[in-house]
Amino acid sequence: MNINENYKNLEESYLFSTIAKRVSDFSSKHPDVDIIKLGIGDVTLPLCSAVIKALHNAVDEMGYKETFKGYGPEQGYDFLKNSIQDYYKKFNVSLDLNEIFISDGAKSDLGNILDLFDNNNTCLVPDPVYPVYVDTNVMAGRKIVYIDANEENDFLPLPDDKIYADLIYICSPNNPTGAVYNRVQLSKWVDYAIKNNAIILFDSAYESFISDNELPRSIYEIDGAKNCAIEFCSLSKTAGFTGTRCGYTIVPNNLTFNGMNLNKMWLRRQTTKFNGVSYIVQKAAEAVFTPDGQKQIQENINYYKQNSKVISDTLDKLSIKYTGGKNSPYIWLKCPNNMNSWDFFDLLLTKIGIVGTPGAGFGKNGDNWFRLTSFNTYEKTTEAMNRFYSLF
Ligand code: MLT
Repeated sequence: MNINENYKNLEESYLFSTIAKRVSDFSSKHPDVDIIKLGIGDVTLPLCSAVIKALHNAVDEMGYKETFKGYGPEQGYDFLKNSIQDYYKKFNVSLDLNEIFISDGAKSDLGNILDLFDNNNTCLVPDPVYPVYVDTNVMAGRKIVYIDANEENDFLPLPDDKIYADLIYICSPNNPTGAVYNRVQLSKWVDYAIKNNAIILFDSAYESFISDNELPRSIYEIDGAKNCAIEFCSLSKTAGFTGTRCGYTIVPNNLTFNGMNLNKMWLRRQTTKFNGVSYIVQKAAEAVFTPDGQKQIQENINYYKQNSKVISDTLDKLSIKYTGGKNSPYIWLKCPNNMNSWDFFDLLLTKIGIVGTPGAGFGKNGDNWFRLTSFNTYEKTTEAMNRFYSLF
């Protein structure tokens, strides 16, 4: 029996687990410190009332034999896929229903999609990057090449013809930097992917935080993207589903390589390895796309945006450089005095009880950078930034 030795090449633990452990070690030694978490991107506002109502109704349906549901379609119920199809029409993107696959969130599908690709493929990831893209490829022993995202390119790297890759990861609005590609920049990636016969794995989990109407919310707003891109989205940040779990993946019908169609392969994979998201949760997700649901989730997003403003106003007052915040729930700041990001993490935790995410956890270009999220409450965010201001 041989085990998958690629696991030896992973960091000992997943970034956010490492941070959680460091914070819990600190709190057990200093129980008196009131810790404020602006680290992992987890929401604090409850599910909106349209979603709660749909959940209650769906639970009741499960209690009667006339409306009870057993196994559903692995790729999701049409009622939810119809809502998502209509949602995409707002961005002038037209999708066939069979191109939409309901999932339990973007993270799992971003990992699972790799079943469709040969382990000898090379993947291209920006540095810094959401660690899931790297770790899932390390687990498969796939070659990873990096493209620098840094201050010089505003954390928005563009394709480099000297780099060859088969799988290209793009997250926009970006986790961790909050930077967002415009249409011209995304077109360059689409052109590059088509030229290289490559696939873009586009993570749009933060699209609902885009305030600037000129910025694309889906890669399919770009001509040609349906010939080279798979898109992953989630209701985690959009509608507070981090604990409820629901997302969707778009696999266009056009994606055929060496006579094999990725949409058909993904359906085959999902019907074999996945039994779908629960009916109750899919009804809750459907409610997100109703007029009431859209209005209510927008109020929550605006609340988090107010927190982003509290963070960015404090950084402005301190003349600390940062990106993100405006079209993203993340603020990516340069550590004062060019501190190393793990030292900065320790400084904030031990001196003022604030938890953030060290940039180094996202790659070498994050060494002197640090991520704060706007997902805590307004009161705690304000308190955290008052402490931050006093410290600096
Ligand atoms: C993050 O903090 O980067 C995210 O919450 C992680 C995730 O969405 O899995």
